[in-house]
Amino acid sequence: MKGVVLAGGTGSRLFPLTKITNKHLLPIYDKPMIYYPIQTLVDAGIKDILIVTGGKNAGDFLRLLANGKEFGVVHLNYTYQEGEGGIADALELAEHFADGEKVCVILGDNIIERGIRHAVDEFRAQPAGAKILLKKVDDAGRFGVAEIRDGRIVSIEEKPVHPKSNLAVTGIYMYDPTVFGKIHHLVPSGRGELEITDVNNAYIREGTMSYAFLEGWWTDAGTFDSLRRATNLVAESRVREDAGVGVSC
Ligand code: G1P
Repeated sequence: MKGVVLAGGTGSRLFPLTKITNKHLLPIYDKPMIYYPIQTLVDAGIKDILIVTGGKNAGDFLRLLANGKEFGVVHLNYTYQEGEGGIADALELAEHFADGEKVCVILGDNIIERGIRHAVDEFRAQPAGAKILLKKVDDAGRFGVAEIRDGRIVSIEEKPVHPKSNLAVTGIYMYDPTVFGKIHHLVPSGRGELEITDVNNAYIREGTMSYAFLEGWWTDAGTFDSLRRATNLVAESRVREDAGVGVSC
C-alpha cells in the first residue's frame, strides 16, 4: 500500500501564522507539523509516500524533507495542488503515483498518539472498498460525522449543525484504486471544493466502506485552539514517554 500526505491549502484559519509559510511547516512542540503524519505512515509499514502540497512555499517541503531518508522512507514523491480545490481535488493528483495500488491517505495536520498499523493491516486484507478511522469527540460539528446503525456506517455529514453522533471521521482514509473514478464524478460543494466526505459517501452507498476506532488521542491542528492542543498533547506524551510510562508519538 502506498501513502499520501495532503499538505496543501492556504491555512486561512491560522492567519497571520500562515502568511509566509505553509500550515504544515508550523511547529508542533519540537517538530514541524508534517513530520507527524509521515511518521504515522512509516510506522504502519508504508514507505512509498507522496506529499501533495501547494501555495507559495511548496519549495520549503523539499528543503525540509529532502528524500525522506531521515524517516526511513524508501521513495518520497512530491506534487503540487493549484488553487483551493479541496481534499478530494488534492487526492486526485495521486492517481498516477498510486498506479493501481491501494492508498492510505492522511491529512497533514492530523496528529495521533498511537499507530494505525492494525487498521492498515486489516485494510490490506480487505478485498476492495475503503476504510476510515473514527474517534469520539465533544465538538463533532467541526468534522465529518459518521452515523452508525446496527454496526454499519450509513452516512457521513460534513460539519453538520446538528450532528447525529459524536463520532468524528478522522483525516486518515484508506482507499482501493476505484477512489479516483469516484473523484472524477464529484461536483464541488457549496464552498466550491471537492469534498472527501462525498468520496466516502460514495463507498458507503456501494456498501464497501469499513471503519475502525482510533486508539489514543487524535487532533487536527488547523485552528489556533487545535494547534495549541496538538502541541500540548505531544508535549505531555513526550513527558510520559521520558518517564517511561507513555507511548511514543
Ligand atoms: C477535514 C474533513 C473532515 C474531517 C477533518 C479531519 O476537515 O473535511 O471531514 O473530519 O478534515 O481533520 P477540515 O480540516 O478541512 O475542516
